[in-house]
Amino acid sequence: MYREIIIDHYKNPRMKGTLDPHDYSYEDDNPLCGDRIRIDVRVDDEGRISEAAFSGEGCAISMSSADMLTEAIIGKTLEEVKALDKAYILEMLGIELGAVRLKCALLSLKVLKAGVYGLETLEEELL
Ligand code: FES
Repeated sequence: MYREIIIDHYKNPRMKGTLDPHDYSYEDDNPLCGDRIRIDVRVDDEGRISEAAFSGEGCAISMSSADMLTEAIIGKTLEEVKALDKAYILEMLGIELGAVRLKCALLSLKVLKAGVYGLETLEEELL
């Protein structure tokens, strides 16, 4: 089963909601299941993320990953966010994942980076 911290973030999300206005916002889905995540971000005068929030529907892995990720990026610069990768998410979750569950775990990173890069779609190589 999943680690307790994953279940806790799924059941008691700290970062769920939307930010309006926001500086960056993006929404996308996991093509395998159709689950969607939107991430909104505000950036302060020094270029650091001051607020972040996620919304959407998905499985425990995708939702807890989104909650942990939006919490972890507070205070980071956009360049630091662009440098986040698959290994970062896996370390954050602390579990081994098969290919299907990996898509769930990476959905929030895909959405976040697409928003920050301002892209319509993000090639998986960037993750
Ligand atoms: Fe849909 Fe995990 S099953 S994101």
